[in-house]
Amino acid sequence: MSVLFVFAAIVTGYGQDVESACVLSEEATKIALEFSPLGPIPGDPTNAVFESEAAARFGQALFFDERLSGAGDVSCATCHDPRLSWTDARSLARGVANLPRHTMTLWNVVYNRWYFWDGRKDTLWSQALGPLEDPREHAGSRLQIAHTIASDPAYRRAFAETFRETLEPLDPDRFPARGFPVPGQEGHPLSQAWLSMQPADRLRVNRIFVNVGKSIAAFQRKLISDRAPFDVFVEGLREGDTEKQRAISASAQRGFELFQGKARCHFCHDGPNFTDLEFHSNRVPTEEGTDLGRPIGIRALQRDPFNSLSVYADDGGAVGRRKIATLRRDEHPTQEFKTPTLRNIARTAPYMHEGQIATLEEVIEFYSTLAGAAPLRPNSERLIEVLDLTGREKTDLLAFLHSLSDESLPAELLRAPPRPF
Ligand code: HEC
Ligand code: HEC
Repeated sequence: MSVLFVFAAIVTGYGQDVESACVLSEEATKIALEFSPLGPIPGDPTNAVFESEAAARFGQALFFDERLSGAGDVSCATCHDPRLSWTDARSLARGVANLPRHTMTLWNVVYNRWYFWDGRKDTLWSQALGPLEDPREHAGSRLQIAHTIASDPAYRRAFAETFRETLEPLDPDRFPARGFPVPGQEGHPLSQAWLSMQPADRLRVNRIFVNVGKSIAAFQRKLISDRAPFDVFVEGLREGDTEKQRAISASAQRGFELFQGKARCHFCHDGPNFTDLEFHSNRVPTEEGTDLGRPIGIRALQRDPFNSLSVYADDGGAVGRRKIATLRRDEHPTQEFKTPTLRNIARTAPYMHEGQIATLEEVIEFYSTLAGAAPLRPNSERLIEVLDLTGREKTDLLAFLHSLSDESLPAELLRAPPRPF
């Protein structure tokens, strides 16, 4: 089929006449092309092994390894379970103890610019270091992790292959079994163990710890969802292929029409990963207003010893100078959270940063009526308005959200790789 014909098919809504595969308006048809395909996987200059297969295999083993926790009972997969679309199906996460926030999915996480609901991390590798030492999550420590890796022959081999550096088991006289700086608590036993070490040894452990993060990031880079029925539909629009256009129902197509039209969802859930990668308030009510989101995230990121301005970034701080140096706290004066992706959204209930909303039907109901919405403040963003959707519009929007499901990763990525990796 000629390019000209495809173009003509798109602008004239050709599909509407031929077996009514496509029911989108001309305008929405053009916009649909901007929502698929997902596009090339972004690189990460701060992580020299981001695209290394050896790092990804090593990272996959680490992701599923419960030995990277204080009591040997928590791994990343405890909360990011591949069988639950890389979440835990709970409202609020639970590791060693309860957390105040809902677990985020890891689908297409590599496309993000900021990590966590408040964006307090700016690289995927540095994100991974947080849960490992959080007393409520893995409750592990960088020293314990460095010992685990340096004393396990399979990990030593994987480390050497990935980072071209041979690890020997760490001397327990110089490297205590556990320890890391506990912020604000120098007297804490973990801080004391850490501070008792030589600075050069601390740097050495930090580098092993950072390389753990960089390997886990290389694994998470592979968690791609880009072949949902909606993607097939858009491909059908592009190719003028009515068979592919039938990948989603007329109702789901009307739902997309609403999504980028009357319902204005694309103001924030924009682009092929259905997020603008930034922070907003969708006015979902939060507990007592205590979690401010983005302002907390900015402060934490600026102070983070593993941020992209740190010595651990492999690009000499170039990314950090662009990203962190230009952040201003007062741009986010009120509660704002990161716009989450909507890919596989039908698989990741419950929803929102505290798991406040149980089902997608209720999410749509919330956006439609704003019943119980958090009150606007003088400096709040004003992108959210009552939509008053009809019953049919709600059904259509729901059908569209269901058309974003695709979990077709190869099975070998869904579990710990067989040793020796
Ligand atoms: C106890 C449950 C738990 C464990 C264990 C856990 N996570 Fe998470 N994860 C969460 C929660 C909750 C959030 C959101 C937290 C927040 O915003 O404060 C999150 C957020 C993330 C994000 C951010 C996603 C985004 O879009 O910004 C990534 C990436 C991630 N986790 C990866 C990991 C990795 C890698 C590990 C293992 C090293 C891990 N998690 C261990 C619960 C957990
Ligand atoms: C003003 C920006 C904005 C608009 C407009 C918007 N959203 Fe959101 N959306 C967000 C933010 C921010 C969150 C996370 C909020 C939180 O957790 O506090 C979110 C969360 C969600 C979630 C839950 C995702 C998850 O993983 O928990 C769904 C589903 C959703 N939005 C769908 C929609 C739909 C459908 C529309 C249109 C009717 C819409 N959104 C309009 C910003 C927006």
